[in-house]
Amino acid sequence: MGQKILQKKISKTHIIVVGNEKGGSGKSTSSMHIVVSLMERGYSVAIIDLDARQKSLARYIENRKNYADQHNLKLTMPDVYILESITHGTSEEMEQQYEKKFSTLLDNLRAISDYIIIDCPGSDSYLSRLAHQSADTLITPLNDSFVDIDLLAKVNPDTYKVEKLSLYSEMVWNARKARAMKDRGTIDWIVMRNRTSSLDAKNTRRVHEVLTQLQKRVAFRYVPGFGERVIYRELFPKGLTLVDFNNNKKEKMTLSHVAARQEIRRLMDELKLPGWNKAVVAAAE
Ligand SMILES: Nc1ncnc2c1ncn2[C@@H]1O[C@H](COP(=O)(O)OP(=O)(O)O)[C@@H](O)[C@H]1O
Ligand SMILES: [Mg+2]
Repeated sequence: MGQKILQKKISKTHIIVVGNEKGGSGKSTSSMHIVVSLMERGYSVAIIDLDARQKSLARYIENRKNYADQHNLKLTMPDVYILESITHGTSEEMEQQYEKKFSTLLDNLRAISDYIIIDCPGSDSYLSRLAHQSADTLITPLNDSFVDIDLLAKVNPDTYKVEKLSLYSEMVWNARKARAMKDRGTIDWIVMRNRTSSLDAKNTRRVHEVLTQLQKRVAFRYVPGFGERVIYRELFPKGLTLVDFNNNKKEKMTLSHVAARQEIRRLMDELKLPGWNKAVVAAAE
């Protein structure tokens, strides 16, 4: 791996896992914005892209490198690591190999990174479960719909009461147990809404009510996330985030960008990450 000699700012590397079992809910977009926010503050951040099929986050960074080269920009540039699929052996052997590869990579990255961000694929896999078990902070972005809530729990269609937990919540529950047994660690699970729309106030309110109920039952922290904004889709080909607009005079800020940036700052504050100082943001505003 490209061993950069970096000065760590926090003594114990913090692992952030971004996951849910659904594609297109905003995992890679959220990951990218969190990574750049942390790097802007001078933290060393390594990315593990576990979505070996789509590699969206790795592509995001590739686009970022190309865009910075083409326009002669100085942009923060995280290292991305990909764990390729293991295709040979019995399932038990494959699991052992995955476990070994994954823990070796984590150990190597811990030595040089304040934060490790792991972007998970939108489906259950052995690697994804290992990642969840290693999380200090787990972030689950949900699109603003009952289809997404269904990942967490079955909800009564008439009363909107939570009836039973679903597969993903059970997986996180098991990850929490495994983590507690391994090193007595805990996982701070955060559910954030993504793509909230001001056009459907009734749905927005219902989703809010159900998540408020669910957070006690499943033990996650429900925090506001990002609104539906075209800008998030436009940034990917350039590899940029809204956080970069500060230092990048080339990109013009619109009112929608300013609002989006506030959403990102609010999320970063709500994550309550070690070393993250809210006051720095307040002073910069
Ligand atoms: N808040 C948002 N507003 C508008 N588009 C969004 C938003 N968040 C994500 N997207 C877009 O939705 C698509 C899926 O997002 P992505 O982050 O790749 O999801 P995942 O990693 O969960 O599959 C991408 O095209 C992305 O640009
Ligand atoms: Mg993705």
